[in-house]
Amino acid sequence: METFWVDLKAELSRRSVTEHPLYVDLMAGTLRRATLAELCAQFKYTVTDGISYLALIVPQAPRELKKELAENLYGELTGTPQVPSHWELALRAGMAAGFAREDVDARPMRPETKVYPDTVSAYAMRGAWLEALSFVAIGIEDMFTTFCDGAARAVQKHYGYSEAEALYFSAHVGADEDHSQLGWEMAAHHATTDEKRRSVRRAALEGRTMWWNMHSAVYEAGERKAAPWQRVEL
Ligand SMILES: [Fe+2]
Repeated sequence: METFWVDLKAELSRRSVTEHPLYVDLMAGTLRRATLAELCAQFKYTVTDGISYLALIVPQAPRELKKELAENLYGELTGTPQVPSHWELALRAGMAAGFAREDVDARPMRPETKVYPDTVSAYAMRGAWLEALSFVAIGIEDMFTTFCDGAARAVQKHYGYSEAEALYFSAHVGADEDHSQLGWEMAAHHATTDEKRRSVRRAALEGRTMWWNMHSAVYEAGERKAAPWQRVEL
């Protein structure tokens, strides 16, 4: 892999969401159940709205990417006979924190979460399919595997989740490794000019920043403690 991508990977991982106080508290079992449920409610929107808008890039994407992209979207939005859709898994994880389905499902999308569908659709409307993909796959899914690996164990250990209830988290360990790998491959293959590389880096930083700030919004509202916020530094 070229130096540019190695450097970007290192830059993104320096402020990974696994350093967020929400994650630290979740690992320790001290995060309030209501905060955990609220996080899952927001996760639902990142699928029903965020991932849905990523479908806007299917017509623009090169043919070799169309099938894999559509397959990934299908798993997220529809699921398979073995694994429910990811938005249903997020609802299930929120209920397992001790709340009714209607309660978790009725919680509104926070403005910090809405940055996800809004940014992805804005990129897609400008024909910037690679930036939309990079926002999700490089900016978010790449670091989400480590988060989910820890979270899957923590919710079972500290919050009494069954394996099935923790499936939102455990399903993302393998799935997002594949998705982020695809993102890195597409970026390295299609961002061949300095201008395009800068644009992909910006999109990836926007994704990581949105994801971090969504956790800060949920944490501050639920725990009534301050959390650090990130901004995109270009
Ligand atoms: Fe997912």
